Amino acid sequence: MADQSPSLRTSRLSGFYQKSIAERTSLIAQWANLSPEEVSALHTGLSVAQADKMIENVIGVYNLPLGIGTNFIINGREVLVPMVVEEPSVVAGVSYAAKLARSGGGFRTGSTRSIMIAQVQLLGVADFEQARANILAAKPELLAAANTSPTIAARGGGPIDIEVRYLPDTLTEPMLVVHLLFDTLDAMGANAVNTAAEAIAPLLERLTGGRALLRILSNLSDQRRAWAEVTIPAETFSSIHASGEEVITGIVHANAFALADPYRAATHNKGILNGIDAVAIATGNDWRAIEAGAHAYAARDGQYRGLTEWRVITDNGMPGGQTEGAQRKLALYGRLEMPLAVGIVGGATRAHPTAQVALKILGVSSARELAEIMVAVGLAQNLAAIRALATEGIQRGHMALHARQVAIAAGATGEEVDRIAAQLAAEGQIRVERARELLKGT
Ligand code: MEV
Repeated sequence: MADQSPSLRTSRLSGFYQKSIAERTSLIAQWANLSPEEVSALHTGLSVAQADKMIENVIGVYNLPLGIGTNFIINGREVLVPMVVEEPSVVAGVSYAAKLARSGGGFRTGSTRSIMIAQVQLLGVADFEQARANILAAKPELLAAANTSPTIAARGGGPIDIEVRYLPDTLTEPMLVVHLLFDTLDAMGANAVNTAAEAIAPLLERLTGGRALLRILSNLSDQRRAWAEVTIPAETFSSIHASGEEVITGIVHANAFALADPYRAATHNKGILNGIDAVAIATGNDWRAIEAGAHAYAARDGQYRGLTEWRVITDNGMPGGQTEGAQRKLALYGRLEMPLAVGIVGGATRAHPTAQVALKILGVSSARELAEIMVAVGLAQNLAAIRALATEGIQRGHMALHARQVAIAAGATGEEVDRIAAQLAAEGQIRVERARELLKGT
């Protein structure tokens, strides 16, 4: 990038994938104004000594590729997305979809406050209605007892509400469940809310006459959601094989499949999470928590469904994409909303040197901003997958990338990589031995 002034900055880094690792690193270092130490954190990552402080019984560190998703515009801002993932095609796919989204101005996003839910399970409660009334009457006292994090409180967060639920039909006995709603601000907040849940448990026992058993956050963080939307003109999707209208109609049919069928929905949502998890890992966030929340949310009406909405916008402004042929299909509209409990302070986000650099590249200053980028990435990743599936299928793209890796494994460098890869793909023989033969003949 010749000019780094904010107005001329673009995430549209044409040919980024063809540059050397050193050139790519230097572009990103300029983009995010990284210090030499931060650049070196991108390449060296976590030390064994740092790892030893993170978990138990450490014997080493395990590396994964860190790539950059390009082309994103999110709420008018150019964004480059650090992604940690072992699967080929994820970074290329998301960058391609973000490029398509640029023709509609990119992604628009939003989010709720960072409200986590902590649950306290109460057993042996004799009178549920009385217990509920007692809890609700003691709300101010409970909220005061739950205000256990001075750091979060000092910044305006903390406990905000108490809800009472009754589970009459369980395998053992009826249970009262108390939800503590807690705004964790920029922290993912697992520790903060677990501490608060443990702090209010004795008071809840006194108020209900019951016995508190589990005191733990819920990963179905449905009060802490982020959403992203995109509108892309139909002609953006046109190719020599199909018109834009045909492609966007196919995308809508693909989405309808995921909304109707859990077998397809699981794969569809896995595609969304390919992108979201990759950003979660890059930024030191708990991707298992995100996965759990996403899948539980996907089943919130009793059937497990795809998390995205895709529809066609027609020239009379009505939803289209079904069978009526008369309306012209002008654009594809997509939306993804889901729970996203992520933080930019504390935990691995703070402890992992590369996570810090990833946050700097993203240029986020709040957990909500991070969640909004992640949901936009999820929507883009899904678009990449279902566009490919509804047109040429995903294997062609996969094979092209696989061919590059095979060419590199055979010793190809620089311009040779693409030339050998193209030849392997054309011959339909993507093997290292064949790549070596081709290299020798050059
Ligand atoms: C592969 O990792 C993800 C996809 O299967 C997602 C999808 O089918 O939508 C391509």
